[in-house]
Amino acid sequence: MNNIESLTQEINTCLKCPLGETRTHAVVGDGNIHSSIMLIGEGPGFYEDQQGIPFVGRSGQLLNKILQACGFTREKDVFITNIVKCRPPKNRDPTPQERQTCLPYLYAQIEYMQPKIIVLLGATALKGLVDSNARITKMRGQWLDWQGHLVMPTYHPSALLRNPQLKRPVWDDFKQIVYKYRELVDPNHFSKYC
Ligand code: URA
Repeated sequence: MNNIESLTQEINTCLKCPLGETRTHAVVGDGNIHSSIMLIGEGPGFYEDQQGIPFVGRSGQLLNKILQACGFTREKDVFITNIVKCRPPKNRDPTPQERQTCLPYLYAQIEYMQPKIIVLLGATALKGLVDSNARITKMRGQWLDWQGHLVMPTYHPSALLRNPQLKRPVWDDFKQIVYKYRELVDPNHFSKYC
């Protein structure tokens, strides 16, 4: 068993915090762990918990559309995961302690994957990875450095579903991601829209 297989097994059987007792499935991640872009959300919701796959509900469908517009596919070009790997009951925010307990799994995924670009989807991802006092409204759209990785915070797709006015800034952020991808990974990367 290699590193990533044993990590996956560890996450799937984890009982380090109370979320392990109420989950249906742990949600390790989806996509290509050998790609250059890691997307990090908050935590699994109802459908993700049922299926063991991140971003399969309404916000996942919107995320798929955004990725498509950028010319990226979920299967090949990105790896998607979350700050916490198990669903908080009733979709409440994960507590600071649950985040803290789960973070070593994310660190291990980042260490293994070595993504060129990390996209933080929403406040929980930003606070969880970068700084618990950071504000998504202030930090979105700006490249940050996190331990040598380039990080772009943007709004969570569920925020866009609640407030369509956020579509514009999120699209601006994803355009920056496409430009950076061309610079760092594939100068010929094609996107119809940017
Ligand atoms: N929202 C998230 O933050 N992550 C998921 O996996 C699904 C919805």
